[in-house]
Amino acid sequence: MDNWVPNPRARPYIPKRKLYGTAGSKLREYSSRRCISKIFQGGLILVLIVTVVINITFLLDTSKKLQPDPQITENNYQKFKDGLSQELEQHNKMKSLKATIEVISSKELVSITVDGTAVLEDEGFDTNRGVHVVVLNQATGSVMAKRIFDTYNQHEDEAMVLFLKMISDGRIIIFTIKDEGTFQLKSTARQYLASMGSEYITNINWRDTWAFVAIKGGKKIGEAHNKSPSLSSWGEKSVLTVHIKLSPKSESRCNWPDNESNRRREVFCSKVEGYGNVCSCTDPSPISFSPQKLENNKISDIPIAVIASNRPHYLYRMLGTLLSVPGANPQLVTVFIDGYFEEPLEVTKLWGIKGIQHTPMGIKNARISQHYKTSLTATFNLHPKADYAIVIEEDLDVSPDFFNYFSQTKHLLDEDSSLYCISAWNDQGYEHSCKNESLLYRVETMPGLGWLLRRKLYKDELEPKWPTPDKQWDWDMWMRNNFIRKDRECIIPDVSRTYHFGSKGLNMNPYFQEIYFKKHSIVAKPDVKLKDLDRMKQKEYEGVINELIKSGEVLSENHNPCDDSFIPNTKDKTYLLYISMKSPTDYTTWKILAKCFHIWDLDVRGFHKSMWRLFLKENHILIIGVPASPYS
Ligand SMILES: *[C@@H]1O[C@H](CO)[C@@H](O)[C@H](O)[C@H]1NC(C)=O
Ligand SMILES: *[C@@H]1O[C@H](CO)[C@@H](O)[C@H](O)[C@H]1NC(C)=O
Repeated sequence: MDNWVPNPRARPYIPKRKLYGTAGSKLREYSSRRCISKIFQGGLILVLIVTVVINITFLLDTSKKLQPDPQITENNYQKFKDGLSQELEQHNKMKSLKATIEVISSKELVSITVDGTAVLEDEGFDTNRGVHVVVLNQATGSVMAKRIFDTYNQHEDEAMVLFLKMISDGRIIIFTIKDEGTFQLKSTARQYLASMGSEYITNINWRDTWAFVAIKGGKKIGEAHNKSPSLSSWGEKSVLTVHIKLSPKSESRCNWPDNESNRRREVFCSKVEGYGNVCSCTDPSPISFSPQKLENNKISDIPIAVIASNRPHYLYRMLGTLLSVPGANPQLVTVFIDGYFEEPLEVTKLWGIKGIQHTPMGIKNARISQHYKTSLTATFNLHPKADYAIVIEEDLDVSPDFFNYFSQTKHLLDEDSSLYCISAWNDQGYEHSCKNESLLYRVETMPGLGWLLRRKLYKDELEPKWPTPDKQWDWDMWMRNNFIRKDRECIIPDVSRTYHFGSKGLNMNPYFQEIYFKKHSIVAKPDVKLKDLDRMKQKEYEGVINELIKSGEVLSENHNPCDDSFIPNTKDKTYLLYISMKSPTDYTTWKILAKCFHIWDLDVRGFHKSMWRLFLKENHILIIGVPASPYS
């Protein structure tokens, strides 16, 4: 993130005159009293020397204090605080509390300058269309947030309002449209902007240009608008110049009680914006937790690798949940950031955990896959004694029993060589298709989305064979391939222990989130005791399935499985559904069924020996491929 600070190291005010004046008057005093004894003269000279020495010491000390801090960490927080105050005071004096902001809105270029320094400059048609928003600190003029909302597209206006609501009162907010920003700018968003003081917002339409500066929670500073003359052309460039009075620093900061977590908060809130309550002066949300300890914790020394890119708001939410659940230990969590992005790193500092940025390699899916490899290698290097690592992405919530779940299941990976992962996620675990929180499955498709990885598997098998940066492979698809999997399986829960909330990313969009992830279940209790753990090993599990088949009732093939009446309105019964499956990779019938059942149908997941398990209408359903499955 760009940070613009006007004249950041302004020279400090040093009271030279007064100090030298004191010494000078002593000299005059000396020359006016000629008849005083030599001893007294000697005394005066001594006083003079002492004064000069004290002055020099004072000057040296002052200039030392004013050295710029190389890095603001928790340890030199006090220095940071002093430095900040001095900077702000100095700045305010020099600029007499004023800044000039110039904003341009046009078809191909948007720009914002503050006192002649560009804080936004985006030129070129076909890139970054929409409303550009920049948030400035009202005391320093430094940039605290920058966002683009492509309000030509649906729902971006809602995201913009959400973002605006998260900004602290008093901040300077600047808006400018590039190309087109009104097609899906609905009335709720327009009303919100009108409430911020915009006069033109209700009249802004297709391909108009618009620039607007306002104070959050306060008044409008300035606005410019040009209408587009016809559907096929753009409005003339809007240029807006405003002079803004900067606030005294005391008004731009909060007086939180001084303690360790509030220090982190203060550093964070002085740099970035758009995080809502965490920076509230009156009622800040907590950033330190003392989560309950896990009883019989089997994973107390297992590191947690959080895989992150540049979605700092996701990371903020994810870490807030993770660190508050029972068994969480911030010291074991490391966030790996794919690139030198500042804001995600600030988020890790806010939560008081380790953040590591590294250089991206490859593009698109290859980049993600390289990011995983680098992060996993680094995790095992950072924790040389750890035999396991928990891997989790930045766009997931975790359940209150997330650590408890892994603590109860970890031993299975040690004891059963036919397993190669334990995941917190069930691809078929929708609200209507799962039910039993203490039930586990074995599946051949590794789901990821919060999983336990053994060092041995990584070091001996995965790391040496990991796809190179030139391969556009999804790392998880690669891991599911039998060339890597070698007929091994993963343990998953019936009800997931993670929830996917992210709707933006390389392979994600809001539509996809709505259809495939929004209705996923997640466990809400901290202390679920998993059942039948001793029956999860290969042979025993096959026994469990055979028992279920023996006790199950076959569903009639004469009904259309897409009809709601296909599954009887019974409770706690076991039903068997035999479907056509000519070979273990013949998924034709399954795909139709998955669509009818409104479960994951984009590819085929969650099976064990050509058999799927799920719950529908309170009943346990086993879907068995014939003749591919050994259970048929
Ligand atoms: C710091 O002070 C806040 C009140 O502002 C309090 O809620 C929090 O628990 C304190 N944190 C620590 C670590 O003492
Ligand atoms: C959930 O599954 C476990 C393991 O099969 C079983 O023991 C338990 O009775 C089930 N609970 C419910 C409520 O069906």
